[in-house]
Amino acid sequence: MTSKITIAIDGFSSTGKSTIAKQLAKELGYIYVDTGAMYRAVTLYAMLQNYVSEKHFDIVDLTADLSNISLSFTFNETLGFAEMFLNGKNVEKEIRTIEVSKLVSKVAAISEVRKKLVNEQQEMGKNKGIVMDGRDIGTVVFPDAELKLFMTASADKRAKRRYKELIDRGDKVNYEEILHNVQERDRIDSTREDSPLIKADDAIEFDNSDMGLQEQFERIMSLVNDKL
Ligand code: DC
Repeated sequence: MTSKITIAIDGFSSTGKSTIAKQLAKELGYIYVDTGAMYRAVTLYAMLQNYVSEKHFDIVDLTADLSNISLSFTFNETLGFAEMFLNGKNVEKEIRTIEVSKLVSKVAAISEVRKKLVNEQQEMGKNKGIVMDGRDIGTVVFPDAELKLFMTASADKRAKRRYKELIDRGDKVNYEEILHNVQERDRIDSTREDSPLIKADDAIEFDNSDMGLQEQFERIMSLVNDKL
């Protein structure tokens, strides 16, 4: 029997990390964890409690309340992936709105938030057989992962993908707003003090601006097979 490995996928927002991670997990029979969903769920909680808005941020109150935030994933057979639950409630749709996207980088920069989520992520991956995507998976969460990928694509391509996703599900958004959000998150995620988004030395970089999904999947599967 081949032993299971850990696959860490990092990169800028909307680089197609989750699409490839889901495909790999399905092919390998591994668990897939979208860590961005966890930061988004904490952000949604902070918004509902009025700890954060575009105008203010009560970091002290949010930090003091972190122990009341319970996050879990439940696999949805129909959708083929695990949905995010916040304190027992399915929040998969709410966490993908532009309002959450606008505030999530601020919340994700808080060290106490990162400490809580990194602990939970390490726990989920302790038996390997996991594909995890995020910003600090290869650098902080699983520095010993057998395979690390770092995904990139131009900001314009990424904003177009995100725009299409939101329009397809019926949200009213404009392209300029999405592009600005993508660029602003890149800036905050890469320059924050705690666990900034950087490529791990041993990560393999993938620019998929002009690469089809199938070609990307095949190339990455061959990297996986080399490790197994
Ligand atoms: O992958 P995403 O766009 O859903 O992630 C949302 C935000 O969460 C992203 O802008 C930065 C933050 N994030 C993070 O700081 N660390 C992670 N491991 C995953 C996401």
